[in-house]
Amino acid sequence: MSDHSGLTIALNKGRILKEFLPMLAACGIEPSEDMSASRKLVFDSRTGGHKLVVMRGADVPTYVEYGAADVGITGKDTLMEYEGGSHFYERLDLNIGVCKLMTAAPPDTDLTSGRLRVATKFVNVTRRYFEAQGRQVSIIPLSGAMEIAPLMDLADCIVDIVDTGNTLKANGLVALDTIAHVSSRVIVNRASMKTRFDAVQNLIDTLRGQVAAANPLIGSKP
Ligand code: PRP
Repeated sequence: MSDHSGLTIALNKGRILKEFLPMLAACGIEPSEDMSASRKLVFDSRTGGHKLVVMRGADVPTYVEYGAADVGITGKDTLMEYEGGSHFYERLDLNIGVCKLMTAAPPDTDLTSGRLRVATKFVNVTRRYFEAQGRQVSIIPLSGAMEIAPLMDLADCIVDIVDTGNTLKANGLVALDTIAHVSSRVIVNRASMKTRFDAVQNLIDTLRGQVAAANPLIGSKP
């Protein structure tokens, strides 16, 4: 567990980080230097003694699970895929990083019969999804660029994140079923929720206020 006065916050690098940094700044938490201009992965905050740690999304739940970070920001897709344990709470939907987890395939692919080959990095979500349909599939684990797997005849279809749909289109695939609606979430280590209650709650409340202000028509949900 972190022993400095502020919170240790694990941040999902990439698009989520870009969208989240202004929200964090509005909470009074800003990195002491420009994150995008640095190869560093751990940044002190200008004030408050917080530590901001930049990492791959899939590692955010692990850091929070083990208490190496008090708080984490990552996508619901990553949380659905994570099967490491439950030593954290999902406390807030930030309504950023909004996209869908979908199946996709080349047009006119018959996905109704035979044993499907499904390429994905979301192997756990994919297994559960097809199990719930009573379908046996062969899951082909990839770590990125799933879109090319059907083109190379490695798979019949893929399960991947769809935002604008441009990547699917550019690779000649069509989106099929929506497995989950995805957005970025705040997770909090269970122990930190108790030992750092004021700091954590203050952060969550301020973020919740921003979510409500940015999305007046929807309630924020965990
Ligand atoms: C995601 C996803 C798709 C793309 C979809 O990849 O894996 O490739 O975004 O976005 P679009 O519908 O707007 O084209 P990302 O760029 O996040 O990188 P990743 O593969 O490392 O997750």
